[in-house]
Amino acid sequence: MTTGAGTRRSLTTMAAQPALDIDPEHLPTGDEKVAAVRSMFDTIAPRYDLVNRIMTFRMDVGWRRRAISALGLAPGSLVADLACGTGDFCFELQRRGHRAVGFDLSYGMLAAAPRHFDRAQGDALRLPLAAGSVDGVTCGFALRNFAELGPFFAELARIIRPGGRIALLEVAEPPNPLLRAGHGVYFGTIVPMIGGALSDRAAYRYLPRSVAYLPPPDEMMDELRSSGFNDARRQLLSVGISQLISGTRDH
Ligand SMILES: C[S@@+](CC[C@H](N)C(=O)[O-])C[C@H]1O[C@@H](n2cnc3c(N)ncnc32)[C@H](O)[C@@H]1O
Repeated sequence: MTTGAGTRRSLTTMAAQPALDIDPEHLPTGDEKVAAVRSMFDTIAPRYDLVNRIMTFRMDVGWRRRAISALGLAPGSLVADLACGTGDFCFELQRRGHRAVGFDLSYGMLAAAPRHFDRAQGDALRLPLAAGSVDGVTCGFALRNFAELGPFFAELARIIRPGGRIALLEVAEPPNPLLRAGHGVYFGTIVPMIGGALSDRAAYRYLPRSVAYLPPPDEMMDELRSSGFNDARRQLLSVGISQLISGTRDH
């Protein structure tokens, strides 16, 4: 279902209801996690972009640009942006001459997009796309939100043509102990304060905690390589507070 500006007002109003059922002290799994994540993003959607820009000091914009460069696809390539949220990756993909289509679990996030882009509500682990139908996939800051990573990697391998590319962004912890400690305070204390003041405190307390869902980097990369992206590599960005995972679909 493609959303449009006409649906934005009513969905934004719905999203403003106090419907958040995420408990920041509890990390749900399976179907409970899917329902909680969808509800949380529906709730924070109206102010998501604002809080994101403030809490990353706009560095997220540069990280997405870097990710699209890492894709290395020719202009005109068809790129699916999974967990597209309010469309930042899709807008940048279009600006760089690609054809972009976004998928997200949260209707509230899709409806809060500042302008139109091709998008549909759907689960990134079960996409309505034919095998080998896209040239590439981007995904921003969503790996820790998926119910499982194995099925997500398998879905990437299914929908991307041989030789196609992935560029996945996710938060990370700086390897330097001093920077890691400072980042821990910022992400664990300051971000929930900013999020609480501008949006929803429970959601922005949950977000730093959700990093615990991510497997150790080596384990995650091994799983991705064995899923059909043999050359997959991981780069740390901005002293290690963000990570970019790129790779090529095996032939
Ligand atoms: C932190 S936001 C990132 C949004 C956007 N990619 C960005 O870079 O700003 C995470 C997004 O993942 C979406 N999401 C979580 N689980 C999903 C799933 N299983 N399938 C599709 N989208 C999902 C959420 O609804 C939310 O929009």
